[in-house]
Amino acid sequence: MASREIVPGIFWVGALDFDRRIFDELIPLPEGTSYNAYLIRGSEKTALIDTVDPTREFDLISNLVKLGIERIDYIVINHAEQDHAGTLPMVLEFFPDAMVVTNEKCRDQLIALLHLPPDKFKVIKDRETLPLGNRTLEFILTPWTHWPETQVTYLQEDKILFPCDLFGHHAASTSLYVSDRSEFYIPAKRYYAEIMMPFRGSIKGHLEKIRALKIDLIAPSHGPVHKNPHLILDAYADWISDDVKNEVVIPYVSMHGSTRKMVEHLTDALIARGVMVRPFNLTHTDIGELALSLVDAATVVIATPTVLFGPHPQVVYATYLANALKPKMRYASVIGSFGWGGKAPETIVKMLDHVKVEVLEPVMVKGLPDEKTLAALDRLADTIAQKHKENNIR
Ligand code: FEO
Repeated sequence: MASREIVPGIFWVGALDFDRRIFDELIPLPEGTSYNAYLIRGSEKTALIDTVDPTREFDLISNLVKLGIERIDYIVINHAEQDHAGTLPMVLEFFPDAMVVTNEKCRDQLIALLHLPPDKFKVIKDRETLPLGNRTLEFILTPWTHWPETQVTYLQEDKILFPCDLFGHHAASTSLYVSDRSEFYIPAKRYYAEIMMPFRGSIKGHLEKIRALKIDLIAPSHGPVHKNPHLILDAYADWISDDVKNEVVIPYVSMHGSTRKMVEHLTDALIARGVMVRPFNLTHTDIGELALSLVDAATVVIATPTVLFGPHPQVVYATYLANALKPKMRYASVIGSFGWGGKAPETIVKMLDHVKVEVLEPVMVKGLPDEKTLAALDRLADTIAQKHKENNIR
C-alpha cells in the first residue's frame, strides 16, 4: 500500500495486512489489520513514528524509498511489541544515523527483544519535547496501555496524537480516515475488549491527560486515522467508566442437551423480566465477540456440563480469558448439569479471582433439568433482574 500524506509533510508509511487472521496466536482478526507508521518532516529534522510488523518490513522500506527519504534523524518507538518495533533493525540498516527515541522501559525491552546496541537510543522522560525545527514532538508516558513501557507522542503544532495501540482497531482498511462513529465503533470496542480492557484503571488516568491536549487528529498504529477525535475519546470514556448495562452474558457448552435446556430457559426468563441476554455457544463462538459482550454486561452466567469432576474444558478456557480481561461485571453465577457429582461451580468461581463480583446461587442438576430446576432458574432470573433494578442498571 502506497504512502499517503495526512497533512503537508506528514505521511502514513505503514502496511496493510489483509490476510492476517490471528494476533498473538490468540485474538481473531476478522478484518485483518494494519501496522501504521508515520513520517514527519520538520524544517530541520525528520522523524519516523513507529515501524511495522517484520512480516511487512518491505512495505515500510519501500514507502520511505518511494518518498525519496534519504535521512531519518529520529525513530520514535511508542511501544516495544513486534508489530510496531519489529522492523526497527531493518530501518536502522537503511538509516544508520537515526537515533531511536523512547522511554527507559521501552529501551530496555527493545534491547532485550531485538538485541539493539544501547548507544542507538535517546531516552526521553514524561512530557519531554524534541524539536524538529518548525515542528515539536512531545512524549507522554502512558504505561499499561498494553505493555508497561507504552507511551504516546503528540505533535504540538499540528495537534496530532500518535497513541500507538491506544484508540486503534484491527482492520486492513484502505480508508486513511474514519470520521463517523458507525465506521469504527464496534471494531474499536472489540479491540478495546481484547487488548485494553485489562488496563481500564491505567487508561482512566491517561485519558484525563490526553483529553487536556488540543487534538485535531488521532493517528493510531492500527486502523484508520480519527478525524473526529472526540468520538473515540468519548467511546473510551464510556467503556472505562464503572457503568454497566442491563445485560447478561451466558457463555455455555452443552454435551447432551441438558445444559442447553437450562440456558434456553434462563434466557427466556431473563427476557421476560426485561433483561437483555447474550448466549454464546463456546463450541463455535468467536472469542472476540464474547470479549466484546463483556465490556458492558452487568452479569455473567457461566453454563457448563460436568466432565469427569469439573467444568467442560471449553468453559474453563472462556472463564480463564474472561477473568484475565477483567471486565467490570458485578454479578456472576454458574448453571449446568452433571452425571454423578463434581465441583464445577466451585472451580469456576475460584477462577474468577480478578473480577470483583457478587456470586449468585448456582443452579446445578443431575441429568435433565426437571420442574424444580426450572423453578430455580426462574428464581435466578428474578434475583438478577432485581439486582440490576436496585442498582439502577439500565
Ligand atoms: Fe499493536 Fe501491543 O501491539
